[in-house]
Amino acid sequence: MRGSGMLALHTRPRRLRTLSRLRDLVRETRLQRDDLVQPLFVCPGTGVRAEIAALPGQYRLSIDMAVEECRALADLGVPGVILFGIPARKDAVGSEAYAPDGIIARALQALSAARTGLLLIADVCLCEYTDHGHCGVLEAGSVANDPTVELLARAAVVYAQAGAHIVAPSDMMDGRVRAVREALDAAGRTDVAIMSYAAKYASAFYGPFREAAGSAPQFGDRRGYQMDPGNAREALREIRLDIAEGADIVMVKPALAYLDVLREARAAFDVPLAAYNVSGEYAMVRAAAAQGWIDGPRIRDEILLSIKRAGADIIITYFAKEMAAVLR
Ligand code: PBG
Repeated sequence: MRGSGMLALHTRPRRLRTLSRLRDLVRETRLQRDDLVQPLFVCPGTGVRAEIAALPGQYRLSIDMAVEECRALADLGVPGVILFGIPARKDAVGSEAYAPDGIIARALQALSAARTGLLLIADVCLCEYTDHGHCGVLEAGSVANDPTVELLARAAVVYAQAGAHIVAPSDMMDGRVRAVREALDAAGRTDVAIMSYAAKYASAFYGPFREAAGSAPQFGDRRGYQMDPGNAREALREIRLDIAEGADIVMVKPALAYLDVLREARAAFDVPLAAYNVSGEYAMVRAAAAQGWIDGPRIRDEILLSIKRAGADIIITYFAKEMAAVLR
């Protein structure tokens, strides 16, 4: 061999990497605009478009501005939005989450009337609406499961009647998917789908979201209801339970530090799988890119592709709008 300069190799994987056309031809995973969902924060007022410090490029939007934003997203080909509410008033039981004239109910009515064509997904949780910042009502200092589930089911019905196509419970109470399904059906809304945050971990990656929504717990943390980051088998169990209770789409959240969980969920279940590329994942990329330490757009593309490659059918990401603008 020495001297001829040629190895006797039949298989040379590099052959398929020589031309960009060839690389395109054999690429296994492609990100598409149809994969993406953009989170939006809706706040009281009119004409409000206030940038969120820890989420550069993301805004708190009043309902009128959210309608405008949804028109822009529809023009870019983003298929859907998931809505989070910032209420005018918070209280111990999160009343504005399920008030028929609460911020999200009114936003859904306005967005439905605007006929943007976007899929409207409503996050269902109490944490943005409670003054203590926990995802449910408190009894003796901890979140009471069953009374919370009742309120979540009420919120889901309000959002469905206001125009949500999908409701997305993100609270991690036990039995909430069944309660939401039963409540929707009893209200005649068998057509409204449930995307459950089935495997949602107690994660520091939600930090910027809590700043955006003012929903940081005022005492303690969420480890009493969200999952322990060490557990992957338990994630499969949570997902199995939610599917049995009636979830149409299941989610793993966060995405990046839990790609193994996504991969296993993809292999184990046949329902559509969503991944939430959460606020902290977005903020880290934006911060490092702003410093000039990384190439932001390339890192963004690689991260979103990794989430799809791991098995996600749907990617909820703060990058959705800018990604849609660059995807063909
Ligand atoms: C509400 C909810 C949270 C997120 C989505 N829904 C916050 C939390 O659980 O503390 C986080 C989303 C993100 O970080 O981008 N429970």
